[in-house]
Amino acid sequence: MMAEVRKNRDDFVWRYISNPEELYIIRMSAMQRFLVDFQKGKEEGRYRYEMLPSLSFKDKEFDIVLSSHFLFLYTKHLDEEFHKDAICEMLRVANEVRIFPLVTLSGERSSYVDSVIKYFKRQGYACKITKTDYEFQKAGDEMLSIMS
Ligand SMILES: C[S@@+](CC[C@H](N)C(=O)[O-])C[C@H]1O[C@@H](n2cnc3c(N)ncnc32)[C@H](O)[C@@H]1O
Repeated sequence: MMAEVRKNRDDFVWRYISNPEELYIIRMSAMQRFLVDFQKGKEEGRYRYEMLPSLSFKDKEFDIVLSSHFLFLYTKHLDEEFHKDAICEMLRVANEVRIFPLVTLSGERSSYVDSVIKYFKRQGYACKITKTDYEFQKAGDEMLSIMS
């Protein structure tokens, strides 16, 4: 990952994170914190293996579902139907779904964003795009909220 980041340095905004070396330290420390907690978290049921577009949780079990760097990012690999099904399922288990960012791996706004918003608005959900302070992937500073 570091080799790719260094090669494509100009695709990122080095403001929040100043350089690839700092990125490495932040990511490694997050990974360490996760690994130290993983076994205990699994035993306590805080980490669960799930795979969209289907989740084992109960209807409205959560207030909110966050999806980060998965939907929209892989627009080239996952079709529009998958995006709609995955979001429907997340809305089944929570009142609100937030998706970040709205850009694809190549940095342009996903072509699914408009049709996803239209689709969920038609079903009575409120949809809102918020600009975020955090921007690491260039133009990746927008979040979509879909609320019942
Ligand atoms: C680029 S990573 C993002 C990880 C993390 N959310 C983040 O923002 O750092 C994409 C993640 O999507 C997960 N993923 C892949 N297919 C999935 C699916 N069908 N349902 C849910 N998650 C999936 C992968 O396991 C991987 O952790």
